[in-house]
Amino acid sequence: MKADELRLKFLEFFKNRGHAVVPSSPLVPDDPSVLLTTAGMQQFKPYYTGDADPMKDFGAKNTASVQKCFRASDIDEVGDASHLTFFEMLGNFSFGGYFKEDAIRWAHQFVTKELGLKIDYVTVFGGTDTAGQAIPSDTESERLWKEMDPALDVHVRGMDENFWGPTGKEGPCGPTTEIYVGGVEIWNIVFNEFFYHGTREELLAGAAGKTLKPLKTPGVDTGAGFERIAVAVQKKEHVFQTDLFASVTALLPRDLEERARRIIADHLRASAFLLADGVRPSNKEAGYVLRRILRRALAFEHMHEMPAGIFEDILTAVIRQYGGFYPELERERDAMLDAYRVERERFAHTLSAGIKELNRQGGTIDAKGGFHLYESYGLPYEVIREVGGERARGLTRDAFDAEFKKHQDKSREGAEKKFGGHGLILDTGELKAATEEEVKKVTRLHTATHLLQSALRKILDPDVRQMGSDITYMRTRFDFSFARKLTPEELKRVEDEVNDIIRADHPVTMKEMDYEDAVASGALYFFREKYPKRVKVYTVGTDDVFFSREFCGGPHVSRTGEIGEFRIKKEEAVASGVRRIRAVVEP
Ligand code: ALA
Repeated sequence: MKADELRLKFLEFFKNRGHAVVPSSPLVPDDPSVLLTTAGMQQFKPYYTGDADPMKDFGAKNTASVQKCFRASDIDEVGDASHLTFFEMLGNFSFGGYFKEDAIRWAHQFVTKELGLKIDYVTVFGGTDTAGQAIPSDTESERLWKEMDPALDVHVRGMDENFWGPTGKEGPCGPTTEIYVGGVEIWNIVFNEFFYHGTREELLAGAAGKTLKPLKTPGVDTGAGFERIAVAVQKKEHVFQTDLFASVTALLPRDLEERARRIIADHLRASAFLLADGVRPSNKEAGYVLRRILRRALAFEHMHEMPAGIFEDILTAVIRQYGGFYPELERERDAMLDAYRVERERFAHTLSAGIKELNRQGGTIDAKGGFHLYESYGLPYEVIREVGGERARGLTRDAFDAEFKKHQDKSREGAEKKFGGHGLILDTGELKAATEEEVKKVTRLHTATHLLQSALRKILDPDVRQMGSDITYMRTRFDFSFARKLTPEELKRVEDEVNDIIRADHPVTMKEMDYEDAVASGALYFFREKYPKRVKVYTVGTDDVFFSREFCGGPHVSRTGEIGEFRIKKEEAVASGVRRIRAVVEP
């Protein structure tokens, strides 16, 4: 059975048993308490707590999904036969619909009958009185399994293994029961019976002042490892032999060592999915995770002198392989490949110099030396480990991260000093201002930047895409995709176009709408790190005739006339295929 069929079979099975099929949520979740989506239940958190109504939103109390997940905690392990950063999780969920009996019966039926797999054994929760409060053992699940199959081995396990959650800073949690096939756990059913007002670590430590409260309506949360099931169903030894990776690994040079092959395959597949969800390489949060895995893959490309373009072929293969089920990959193809090229180019500039510096340093690489390599040459921890070989053996992630944090604290202090100890009153990542006066100027420049983008698309090429922007009260700096230097005439026409719209004093309006509606409205939406379900769209002009329409958090002027005179100061290259314009507004 092909992996593509497996996904559909799972969804069909649960659809036929009263579940609404729900698409995967993005890898960058709405939930600010977590960085990346690590489990299928995350998008359903409010349904467990009663904060949202599944009947209203899905027309059913039960849902099923195939969820994109990313676990950054496993990065160091990738390269062996089983660890992955990105993976897919099959899930069936209930919010007050069914509970233990149906969940266990359907799991058993799907695994043994539909997939024809033999269960090694199952596990259930044995209870605890050490987590600050007593939680009873799950004798009901034990009984249900025995009734299902009297010959089945049922193992009883503790808090560490068979009690799940919460994810993030707080959330639903409860006892689990797991199915093992071929020596690995393939299916995990969580019976969400509690809500814990703290992290999992606090729960395990029995932290004072944190409470574990029963949920009004207990729920079911299943996580079944899609890749692991594919291995079992396709009778392979490991995931890289399944059809999920075959098209990717086939493109890599034959003589490449197996560990490198697996790391590249995992990291590029994961990068494709992060890029498709709007993540862009950067030095913080999800962007930093993406930068690390992408650069580690690129370090291998460099060390093994692979043919140029091989990674682009692999990213394209990922899009082809997964695009049928995850349409965002096809939809974002161009923007993804552009962003990949920019990052490759940026890294290429410093990688050889970084390797030279690494060799110059001599001796073993400690945390300070390692961080210097990151800060000055863009070599993340993973890359230093790969490139440094023996000399980097003693460098631990904890020591490197501690150095990183020290540096972040210092630069925060630096920024505060620079702005007279007041800090920034506006800092969206894109816009920065320290006083009310600066906010006003930055707001004018921000609207001007939207007009600049539409003018570039109108005058140069409708395929021009934003690659980055940075706005202070002094100027706007706008990066965009374009193959060559702009002529003075083109720059003049772009400037005139922006000033024409300014002079006509068009209204600027904001509407909040569903993500899909916003896309359909023609709004430009690349280069956001994440898209919540509801997004803000800024329009210059009217609904019928608009000069610019973009996903944007604001702030903007309310009429273009407020912007003043727009002046382009400089146009230059940043990377191959990426140009940068600096511009100001006057007075
Ligand atoms: N949420 C549970 C897990 O991720 C099912 O394993």
